Amino acid sequence: MNTAIIYGTKHGSTHKCANTLANELGSNTKLYNLETETDVNLSEYDTIIIGGSIHAGAINKNVKKFINKNIDILTQKKVGLYLCCMYEGDKALEQFQNSFPEDLRNKANAHGLFGGEFDFEKMNFLEKAIVKKVANVEKSVSNLNYANIKAFAKTILS
Ligand SMILES: Cc1cc2nc3c(=O)[nH]c(=O)nc-3n(C[C@H](O)[C@H](O)[C@H](O)COP(=O)(O)O)c2cc1C
Repeated sequence: MNTAIIYGTKHGSTHKCANTLANELGSNTKLYNLETETDVNLSEYDTIIIGGSIHAGAINKNVKKFINKNIDILTQKKVGLYLCCMYEGDKALEQFQNSFPEDLRNKANAHGLFGGEFDFEKMNFLEKAIVKKVANVEKSVSNLNYANIKAFAKTILS
């Protein structure tokens, strides 16, 4: 099984999850960070995993653009979709639904909410101010959900 994990990240959480996922999936897994690699030959892969993160209610623009551009080929592949975000429960689910087109969500074999992190070392002044005000958080915190990443990998491999 050839697998591509294609993701967008701002402060590195979605990249961390892509790495962990790749380790779970095994050797034929290639990572593409859409910040630097936009040219992915999807025909080389049977399985495509797309990951993104939520900032101010929306998924990374590059991830959205990539999905819109490749929606036809994506619906013909085995697909997994995951999201990094700090909200949990229904709010996280709502963000997931708003992030990926309905057709792709319905077709996808695996859906993952992998949690998120606030990394104050990587935030700019405005981001720090927003996180302090909106989330009431003053220092870095990591809530990545490694159990969900493992479960997602198991579903993809089954
Ligand atoms: C300025 C800012 C805004 C954010 N807005 C949201 C949000 O609207 N909803 C949410 O669930 N998480 C939000 N988050 C949390 C991010 O989703 C979390 O930091 C995630 O781990 C980022 O992943 P990335 O580093 O791969 O981009 C926000 C984080 C920052 C710094």
